[in-house]
Amino acid sequence: MATLDVRPIMAAGKEPFDAIMGAVGGLQPEEEFELFAPLDPVPLYQVLGAQGFSYETEALGGGDFRVVFRKRGSEMAVRQSEPLVGRAAELAEFSPDGFGRRILTETDRFRVVIAALEDGQEIPLHAPPLDMVMTIVEGIGQVMAGDQVHAVRAGDVVIVPAGQTRGLRAIGGRLVTVNVVSPPPGPGHHAGSATAWPVDEEAPDVGALILEEHAGLFPHLDHMGSLASDATTLGEDELRTRLREVLAFLRDDLLPHAREEEVSVYPAAEKVLRAVGGATRTMSVDHRFVGQMVGELSGLGEGLLSSANKERIRRLLYGLQALLQVHFTKENEVYVPLLNRLSASERHQLHDRLSGGDGGHPNHHKES
Ligand SMILES: [Fe+2]
Ligand SMILES: [Fe+2]
Repeated sequence: MATLDVRPIMAAGKEPFDAIMGAVGGLQPEEEFELFAPLDPVPLYQVLGAQGFSYETEALGGGDFRVVFRKRGSEMAVRQSEPLVGRAAELAEFSPDGFGRRILTETDRFRVVIAALEDGQEIPLHAPPLDMVMTIVEGIGQVMAGDQVHAVRAGDVVIVPAGQTRGLRAIGGRLVTVNVVSPPPGPGHHAGSATAWPVDEEAPDVGALILEEHAGLFPHLDHMGSLASDATTLGEDELRTRLREVLAFLRDDLLPHAREEEVSVYPAAEKVLRAVGGATRTMSVDHRFVGQMVGELSGLGEGLLSSANKERIRRLLYGLQALLQVHFTKENEVYVPLLNRLSASERHQLHDRLSGGDGGHPNHHKES
């Protein structure tokens, strides 16, 4: 284990950073590094974290600290002599202290790293003399490339020439990137740069806008429900008048609302879904509603069959029928073609499960 005591250096009023980086640069593979300091060396955790070190801190009393840094296991450089094919998001290794780094391969020509950032983690800004190509494979974040900050998400590619500043931040969830750096980094190449992240730009809350618009539509659904109940008993004129009101809402508010969503809200959501996944959650929301309606219906079936309850039963049955019709149509039209694009082995696995081959659910649709 290499040891460095920076207490005398700092007592002499000097800056210990160069001594520390010198000691780290001289470490043998897998060698630990023990540091004694007159304070908790918090800034060092990020700098050395970026170089793949984890650390353990021990307070020695009297304000002194002992910290042991060790290279994380996967940080040991691998020279990949065979081709490697894998899903980057599955090869990623996250870490609670500093972003996770996994070196996939390193030769004297380049290094390939998978960076795995938890929400809010970052690769600090630095400007080493190394060319870099970064491909964002999962998530959403911000990249600093040169002196510009860019919003990036899965599918984006970033190239930063040697000597220019680079850095990465995860925003709102996990972020995974594949970084190719050439030539491979050496000691000191991850030392922080003087550039700082700019303050985040203000942006409006679009979600609140949509919630508000939907809140305005909901009461009309109740009108539709009560008109449905009254339809068979109302006089012809009264029925026509109320139907006209409901139709006015449907034609003048609801259909334009839906058309607007098709051209603005859905394409915007699609961008994010492509980066973070989660598209099938809309189907799970259907399942939740179906479950609630089935629960309510069974409760009503057990109880007193008053005329109000009969009316409620009728509405639930109609509601369930419509919901399930749309739900099956979505599965048939959207999901079935997608499933046919799975790999052969994935299709085998899914087929076995759905046909009861593994003793699991005999048929997924018996649930809904
Ligand atoms: Fe809507
Ligand atoms: Fe379903």
